[in-house]
Amino acid sequence: KNIAVLMGGYSSEFEISLQSGATVVQSLNDDLYNVYPVHILKRGWFAVVDGQEFEIDKSDFSFKDAFLPAGQAGAKRVTFSACYNTIHGTPGEDGKLQAYLELLGIPQTSCNFYESALTFNKKDTLSVLKSYGVPMASSVYVNEGDDITMEFKNGVAVNIGYPCFVKPNRAGSSYGVSKVYKEGDLEDALNKAFAEDSEVLIESFLSGTEVSVGVFNFGDGTKVLPVCEIVPDGDFFDLTAKYSGKSQEIVPARLSDEDTQAVQSLTSGIYEIMNLKGICRIDFIFHKGKPHFVEVNTNPGLSKESIIPRQIKASGQTLTQVLGQAVEDCMK
Ligand code: DAL
Ligand code: MG
Repeated sequence: KNIAVLMGGYSSEFEISLQSGATVVQSLNDDLYNVYPVHILKRGWFAVVDGQEFEIDKSDFSFKDAFLPAGQAGAKRVTFSACYNTIHGTPGEDGKLQAYLELLGIPQTSCNFYESALTFNKKDTLSVLKSYGVPMASSVYVNEGDDITMEFKNGVAVNIGYPCFVKPNRAGSSYGVSKVYKEGDLEDALNKAFAEDSEVLIESFLSGTEVSVGVFNFGDGTKVLPVCEIVPDGDFFDLTAKYSGKSQEIVPARLSDEDTQAVQSLTSGIYEIMNLKGICRIDFIFHKGKPHFVEVNTNPGLSKESIIPRQIKASGQTLTQVLGQAVEDCMK
């Protein structure tokens, strides 16, 4: 079976996705699959074979695998049985590629298009989970041009206070995220977030232990991985802390059995409420003793520094086993 490992993407996270994709290429069992790295980049879509780029034909997601000009003997068309999707951000984590591949009848490993689009939108995810009583920070949603202070948005009272977090509504890996301590710093933080997305969230600060929980369901029940505790070196778990190896990620988290159980059952509950698919990772902060929901990552990082590979290892499984199950499950 030919498997395309989709990586790259159009957002700031594209380089992180290339690292995640490399892990998948290395991990999938090559006795079972012909694995092709496929780069989905702003400048084009390419299958990469022996360091050579072959342009993807977008009409059926195939490519002509030959060093000969099209039409000459030797040109072979490669089509894919499935895609392993490791794109963080648009267009691989927000439903666009999911919808396109579904129309072409090519299975892919991450959530379906609607669930991907919904969970990639932080504001809409918060409002769904709020209706189920899931604890979370208070937040206010800001569009470019809104008149915002920490007391009012367009004249309507808001209750966030300082410090607070300013985040792009649809982005990942902490790109564009700031912790803001005082009114005078709000505008810069909003500008930084608007550089990543045209929609922004301001969230109240939750103080407490930050944890992240991997979760999947390959048809035999929702399985939750060991909890990872994140101890940032700096002010919060920002981009530098995530990828410079500066923060500490402790698996299993130093939580009581009761807290571990609480956050794991909230994780599987959210996976089921949101109708997720494949391997996801949900982030929380223990605030006043209770896990508060932060966000869902439907294509979580798989680089060497990333949490999911460590959680899989801590669970006694290998990446080859679990990523292989993800491929098999999406083709069912
Ligand atoms: N968005 C990054 C890749 C993560 O959630 O791991
Ligand atoms: Mg994220």
